[in-house]
Amino acid sequence: IGVIEAPREMTQQAVASSPIQKHVTILYASQTGNAQKLAEKFGDQLQQIGLEVSVSSMSDYKTNALKKAQYLLIVASTHGEGEPPDNAIAFHSFLHGKRAPKLDHVQYAVLALGDSSYEYFCQTGKDFDIQLEKLGAKRLVDRVDCDVDYAEQAEKWFGEVKEKLHSEFTQFTPSEQEAAATVLQEETEYSRKNPFVAEIIEKINLNGQGSNKETIHLELSLENSGIAFEPGDCLAIIPINNQTLVNSLISALGFEASTKVDVDGTSVTLEEALLKTFEITLLTKPLMNKIAEYTENKDFHALIENQETLKQFMNGRDLLDVVEQFGPFNWDAQGFINCLRKIPARQYSISSSLLAYPEEAHVTIGVVRYEVDGRERLGVCSTYVADQLEVGDQVQVYVQKNPNFKLVDDDTPIIMIGPGTGVAPFRAFVQEREERGASGENWLFFGDQHFVTDFLYQREWLNWLKSGVLTKLDVAFSRDQEEKVYVQHKMLKHAKELYAWLEKGAAVYVCGDKNMAKDVQETLLRIIQQEGNKSEEDAMEYLEELRKQKRYQRDVY
Ligand code: 2AM
Repeated sequence: IGVIEAPREMTQQAVASSPIQKHVTILYASQTGNAQKLAEKFGDQLQQIGLEVSVSSMSDYKTNALKKAQYLLIVASTHGEGEPPDNAIAFHSFLHGKRAPKLDHVQYAVLALGDSSYEYFCQTGKDFDIQLEKLGAKRLVDRVDCDVDYAEQAEKWFGEVKEKLHSEFTQFTPSEQEAAATVLQEETEYSRKNPFVAEIIEKINLNGQGSNKETIHLELSLENSGIAFEPGDCLAIIPINNQTLVNSLISALGFEASTKVDVDGTSVTLEEALLKTFEITLLTKPLMNKIAEYTENKDFHALIENQETLKQFMNGRDLLDVVEQFGPFNWDAQGFINCLRKIPARQYSISSSLLAYPEEAHVTIGVVRYEVDGRERLGVCSTYVADQLEVGDQVQVYVQKNPNFKLVDDDTPIIMIGPGTGVAPFRAFVQEREERGASGENWLFFGDQHFVTDFLYQREWLNWLKSGVLTKLDVAFSRDQEEKVYVQHKMLKHAKELYAWLEKGAAVYVCGDKNMAKDVQETLLRIIQQEGNKSEEDAMEYLEELRKQKRYQRDVY
């Protein structure tokens, strides 16, 4: 049965010079681990300068501790369409509910992480910031909303927090200040700024001829990198923009590819900057607002005034559309570049286990191509991999931990629900369990359009079924018959057994598309209600309990 991780307590004795001991609580709402990593780093740094600090996941935090909280720092990422990450759902609704306490005695600060290409940018952070104030808490420093490239803004926010705490607490000695300054510098792991250059050792399209889908199985060598990861973790790939799109954009702008621009203090050509450094495919509200400063075009201003039409326009369109439809703009190459955000790395669930494939990482990438306004649009990273990279080529990567999607212990049965590319982490799970000789049973639900062309890793699943590593396999091919058959229909068909697995302690994992995940959750609730003879409310509580015990984990995109 799932082990509940104790909050990572980092308690330290008071510094001799502090007359009154004060305590800083850092809570993180984290889906992919970015917020967690920041929270832990901030915790370490505050501890280094002699403060008493505890860092914990919101899901592990005992809410009655709020009564005694003094300084509360929240690092919150936003998931999907403005929802809190799974580990924050309970705490978020507690603070917004009737049982939320008065917090006049608390001083707080919120760092929000998000992606400005989503409508509800940083919503979870905003929620906490507003609600804490409503409950009477006092804001220590203003909230900062970070975009995908969050490192710099996060450091700046933390610098301000530290300064505030510094003036609140006793004076620090010079050596403590020095210690604090040193910690800020260190960054040893591979990251967005310091990626590992991996060689491609295998590349296969998993779909058969005639499929509507194109799913690339990519194997990367991590030789000599020392990179470690666990099943459930992600590989971030730093893509390069499409050359044809970059050419078209430069020409539509009326610039020269060879024009020099400044990027973080280095002079590079406009072409290089657009290929490697900046995002040119996704339109976001902040981007459109910046662009608006460079034109008096009435149509453009009308477009960005109306939230609905703006949203509609941005959907599936890119910078080239903006330039072609609303240009010319009165910017030079540098002014244009300054409007853009850095190209975010794309994250893919790793589909291999280091035990089965030492010094390798496999990923399973669904290739995105679609047409808007008669022009073909290419998913940045997926088509970079599909069209530009071959075996022997190199690609920049780093590992993105995924602490909310981790295998339970070896003896616990697991139910894995992963249609489409959602199956990726489960290949890693089963490989890992096979290598470890884990005794826990494994049940996979997989779905895709057609059996003949889209049964990803079919041979491997069937072999595992034969050898007994995989206990049960249920597949749903949605377009092989008249009516749609989805994974949740297969779950319902096996409701009794599925519930029996839950009752004997099984953990449930869901990976893949967010609409699917929502429908699967509803189905789970229905099964619990029906097979456990429970009211809707009790079924919800049952599922919440599973979540708390880390027996219901999701990786949804
Ligand atoms: P469809 O495309 O035929 O509708 C992987 O993409 C598989 O997930 C496909 O078979 C797809 O079916 C299916 N799928 C689409 N929407 C889904 C949903 N809401 N729940 C479960 N499966 C879904």
